[in-house]
Amino acid sequence: MNFLKKNQKHQKNNINMVRNTLMLFMAILAITFTSCGDKKKEDAKTEVETVKEEVKKEIEKPAEVASDQDPQIALGEKLFTEKTCTTCHAIDTKIIGPSVKDMIKVYDEKGGNLVKFLKGNSDAIVDTDPGQVAIMKANLDGFVKDMTAEELQAVAAYMRKAGK
Ligand code: HEC
Repeated sequence: MNFLKKNQKHQKNNINMVRNTLMLFMAILAITFTSCGDKKKEDAKTEVETVKEEVKKEIEKPAEVASDQDPQIALGEKLFTEKTCTTCHAIDTKIIGPSVKDMIKVYDEKGGNLVKFLKGNSDAIVDTDPGQVAIMKANLDGFVKDMTAEELQAVAAYMRKAGK
């Protein structure tokens, strides 16, 4: 009885040893396989890079959305449409007045102040043709003068963003 038990224990130990050796062998095989397969490694590397890029893009996306949801710019965009600025000003092309892109370009180059112009406190610097200036002046004196400083700042912020 005792002898039998001892024998069983012995067998168990043997099985354990075989299993351990097998595991060691497999581990060596795995290491050899990965270190020899340089090409595979490269593939894996590019795959990791791609995943990294995708993750980066995913992280960057919310930031973009956040700036679009900037409340000041959102208000500016709303006013630019509601106050009929869009009737005469498109983003990319000249309609009756200059495009927003052209206006921002000139204001950036000449260090102009959009809010000051809209308040009627500085002269036109984009299109100085008297007929054209008169059209915009009619707006300034007509309804732009009723807009608050906060609203004008929002419109200017929106124009700066849209005209980039
Ligand atoms: C009826 C057409 C019309 C509407 C509506 C209009 N504009 Fe203009 N705007 C013009 C014309 C024409 C010019 C070109 C003359 C000039 O540069 O001043 C101009 C010029 C401008 C300029 C450039 C001024 C400069 O320094 O030369 C800005 C800024 C501007 N408009 C903003 C606005 C905003 C903001 C609104 C809405 C609140 C608006 N405009 C509505 C016709 C319009």
